[in-house]
Order: sequence, then structure tokens, then C-alpha cells
Amino acid sequence: MRRYGKYIKPYLFSFICGPILMIVEVLGEIFLPKMMALIINNGVATKDIGYITRMGMMMVGLAVLMALGGIGGAYFGAKASIGFAADLRKDAFAHVQKFSFANIDKFSTGSLVTRLTNDVTQVQSLINMMLRMMLRAPGMLIGAVIMAFTINPSLAMIILMIIPILVLVVFVVLRIGFPRFKNLQSKIDGLNSSIRESLTNVRVIKSFVRGDFEQEKFERSNGDLKDASLRAFKVVITTMPLMSLAMNATTIAVVWNGGKQIIAGSMEVGDLTAFITYVTQILFSLMMTSMVILQSSRAVASARRINEILDEKPDVEDETASLPDKKVESGSIEFKNVSFRYYKHSDEPVLDGINLKINSGETVGIIGSTGSGKSSLVALIPRLYDTDAGDVFVDGVNVKDYSLKNLRDGVAMVLQKNVLFSGSIAENLLWGDENSTEEEMKHAAELAQANGFVTSFADGYETDLGQGGVNVSGGQKQRLCIARALLKKPKILILDDSTSAVDTATERVIRANLKEVMGDATKIIIAQRISSIIEADKIVVLDDGKIVGLGNHEELMKDCEAYREIYYSQADKEVGA
Ligand SMILES: Nc1ncnc2c1ncn2[C@@H]1O[C@H](COP(=O)(O)OP(=O)(O)OP(=O)(O)O)[C@@H](O)[C@H]1O
Ligand SMILES: [Mg+2]
Repeated sequence: MRRYGKYIKPYLFSFICGPILMIVEVLGEIFLPKMMALIINNGVATKDIGYITRMGMMMVGLAVLMALGGIGGAYFGAKASIGFAADLRKDAFAHVQKFSFANIDKFSTGSLVTRLTNDVTQVQSLINMMLRMMLRAPGMLIGAVIMAFTINPSLAMIILMIIPILVLVVFVVLRIGFPRFKNLQSKIDGLNSSIRESLTNVRVIKSFVRGDFEQEKFERSNGDLKDASLRAFKVVITTMPLMSLAMNATTIAVVWNGGKQIIAGSMEVGDLTAFITYVTQILFSLMMTSMVILQSSRAVASARRINEILDEKPDVEDETASLPDKKVESGSIEFKNVSFRYYKHSDEPVLDGINLKINSGETVGIIGSTGSGKSSLVALIPRLYDTDAGDVFVDGVNVKDYSLKNLRDGVAMVLQKNVLFSGSIAENLLWGDENSTEEEMKHAAELAQANGFVTSFADGYETDLGQGGVNVSGGQKQRLCIARALLKKPKILILDDSTSAVDTATERVIRANLKEVMGDATKIIIAQRISSIIEADKIVVLDDGKIVGLGNHEELMKDCEAYREIYYSQADKEVGA
């Protein structure tokens, strides 16, 4: 909880003023009934209009003060809690931005969204409530008890007897309510994950006609949330009438006893009215306290979930980089005894004992069956993941010694699961380098064989892409992604299965363009088709996380059984390609 101090600091003034102004309101609440009693006892009983007017004016003044205090308190409470939440959300979001792929794999995206929105809001409501109630509830309780005693000690004993019963009720409510509210928060998480998954994948769901299934899944989590909410709010619902019952019983006891005292002449009528108001206030303050504590049960669960994000150490960091100013210059790559796993507790490595040297300017093909570790291997170069053992060097320097920015500026990677963003085509391409000119952008698009179809669109480069690039074909999307990477003018260009949806003729042109323009950059091409990499200087054959062949096409055809197998399995299909 210490970390939250930093979010209080900028709003310290509001954090202090909010509760203090609330005291003004409490003082009013405590003294108004007493003044009312005085009017009834001294003014009404003796028909003293002057006294009634004077007292009445004072009461109006006090009421205005109370209103001002209430407004001010609410204002500062809102200001403090909203500011606190906004800063917390900002930091959490910034922290999530630093997450590596491995960190993100750990939390689901749905859960991250819930934590940054709903959970932060829970904490915000708690702070707002606390600032307004923190001093008000206990102040009102203590004030009302004291006033009750000064008016009539013997009658006040009745209140003292009822308080332990009320405290017990509150305690029971909390015991039952706390876990239920905590449960509620996790159900919201479940619902968010389910909604997110179905909405982002709505196309796949429709094409597989899995709508009903998804609907069912949604209804299940929605039903879960409904049940959890009902269970939680049942507690609140039963508390209110119970409290009312206790209050009414106390009032009757007070009126009955007080009435007897009035008849006996030992108590005045005005005191009895004031007394009843104090009973209500005592009860109200206990109710407020229980509400705050119930809300805090949700907020504590939420704060814990936010903490999990803030405590998550980004596992790819560059704070310890020993050469933060070094840039990638030539683009040579070396893997030394590298092994890698996605889950630190699994014993089956995805990559095992990889030793590989790639000279700058070389074109390297990587081929191997699906799941053999091709994507994982190249992900280690721009440090999307870190190795378990062994090291990766770029320009002879350990990748961990670069700043992430410089490393990733030098390495452009077209991911296998590439995405485009909503926005115009130009905006998407300029991700590669926002400072490049229109000429450069078009040139990059031409190299990636994208210029043709882009200019055929009515709006050309200003064509708006839907979310994820839904309004271009698979092959067009791949070409735009390649253009985006080319615009970075990287020293190392990695294409992970990036032309799989492009026809072989166009692919051949792209390859030729790359060779010509990106001559001195190192190019790594992962492909399923041998034809995509047949001209590479070096071909790496991966099988089950190990390198089983290394050489050019002719050498591998001679020496590598696995490569020959792939070649022959594709040869009959590829005739004429
Ligand atoms: N994010 C991930 N979390 C956990 N395991 C993963 C992850 N990505 C890949 N794997 C596992 O690592 C292994 C290698 O996957 P990788 O993506 O490197 O294969 P690939 O050779 O690129 O396959 P493909 O040709 O299908 O793209 C597979 O067994 C896969 O299940
Ligand atoms: Mg892959």
C-alpha cells in the first residue's frame, strides 16, 4: 500500500480538505437537533416568538454552513479520488507497455483491460467514499452519543444497549459480504475476457457458425456474474430492513421511556425529539461504516489485482544495458549455445543448443515443420523474448547490451501474426518511420509490391483500414506489413512467413527487389515453401528446436535428409511455380 502514497501527494490538499469540510457538516448535524430541542423547550413552551426567531435564524445559518461544507467536501473528495485514479491508471498503462511478450502471455488481455478500468474505478470509489465518510461516520456516532448523554443520561443507556447489537449485525454482514464482493470482482474479469475474445474474433466465430456456442459461453459468464452480484447484494439488501427494525425498536423504547419521564416532569418534550434524531444518526453512522467496509472489500481485491500488474517485472529490460548508445550498424548475427522455453517450469525446450552465425548482408532462409521453433528462434534477435541459456549477438555485441530502442530500430520484423491498425494506409506504413517522405513511403510500397493495389483504391494511400486491417486481402495485408518494415531501413530484416498468402510470381518480384535495395542488410526469411528460400546464401533447417541442416540449397540436397524430404514433398506441387 506504500506505493499509493505517491498518488496521494499531488492531491494532498484535496485529500485533507475533503474530510475536514465534512466535519463542518457533522457538527451541523449534531447541533441542529439540540437547537431544535431548545426552540421547543424554551420558545414554543413559553410562546416566546423572539427566541424562536433568533434560534431559527441561527439554525438557518448553520444549515447554510453545513451545505457549504457538504458541497466542498464532496468536491474535494471527487477531485482527490478522480485524480488519484487517473494517475494510477496512467502508471499502470505505462507499465504494461513495458511488458515483454512473456509478461503479456501471463495475464490475459481481457484481464489487463478489467484491471486498468473496472479495478481502478473500484479503488477510486472507495477513496471517494472514505474521504467523505472517514471522519463523518465516527464523528457522527461519537457526537450523537455525547449529545444523547448530555440531554438525558438514563435514556442514553438504552442507546448504549442497542449499539453492541448493531455492531454485531454490521460484523456479521461484513463476514458474509466480504468474500462475496471479492468473488464478484473475479466474475467481472471472466465476463470481460469472454466478451473481448468473442468480439475480436467475431469473423472466425461467424465463419465457423460458432455463434451459438459463443453465445452460450457468454451467457454462462454473464449468469455467473449475475449470481455473484445477487449473492453479494443480498447481504446489503437484508441489512437495511434489519437495521430499520433495530432503529424502530430503539425509537419505541426511547419514546416509551421518555414519555414516562415527561409525564413525571423529569424530561422536556423538545429533548425527546432531539433524542430520537440522535438515535437515527447513530444508526446511520453505523450503516455508513458498514457500506464503506463492504466497498473496501471490493476495492482491496481490486487494489491487489492492480498491484499484480505493477509488481510484474518486465522480463525484457534494458536498464542494465552496458552500451545504451550503441546502434546496430552491420547486421551480423550469432547464436551461441542458445536454448529457450516459453514456460520456465516446463522441461521441454522449444529451442535447444542453437549455434548459428549469420554474416552481415547475407540472405538466410529458415525452413522446418510447423512448431519446429522457427518463429521462436527469430523472436530472440530483437529480444521479444530472452534466452534461457546461451546468448544472441548482433554486430558481435550481446543483444542485452543494446538499449531496446536501438536494437529494435535496427531489426525490422514482420511477425507471422502481423496486424495493421485502424487508420489510413499511409498512417500504418509510417509506423516504420514517421519521418519518411511520401516518396520514400511509396517506394517502400513499390518494393513490397503494394503500390499497385493501393493506388487502385479510390482513396489510394488515404484509404481507411478497418480494425486489424479487415478490408484488405490476406496477401495485400502481408505486402503492407513488409512495406512498413522496409520503411524502417533496418540493418536486419526478418520476414516470418510473410509472403505465404502472396502468389509465387509476386513473391519472386518482392524477393528480387529486396536483394537489390536491401543489399547490405541481413535478411532472414522464414518460409514454408522451399521456392521462397531456394536462392538464399544459407538455409537453416530446424526440426524440433534443433538445427538439423545448414548450407545452401545444393549442399543441403546432398547432405540433409530432412531438407530433401521437404523438397520432394513440395516438388510435385510446385512444378511450374
Ligand atoms: N507464446 C507461446 N507460448 C507458449 N508456447 C509457444 C508460444 N509460441 C509458440 N509456442 C510453442 O513453441 C513451439 C515452437 O513454436 P514456433 O512458433 O517457434 O514454431 P514455428 O516453427 O514458427 O511454427 P510455424 O511454422 O507453424 O509458424 C511450438 O511447440 C509452440 O507450441
Ligand atoms: Mg512460426
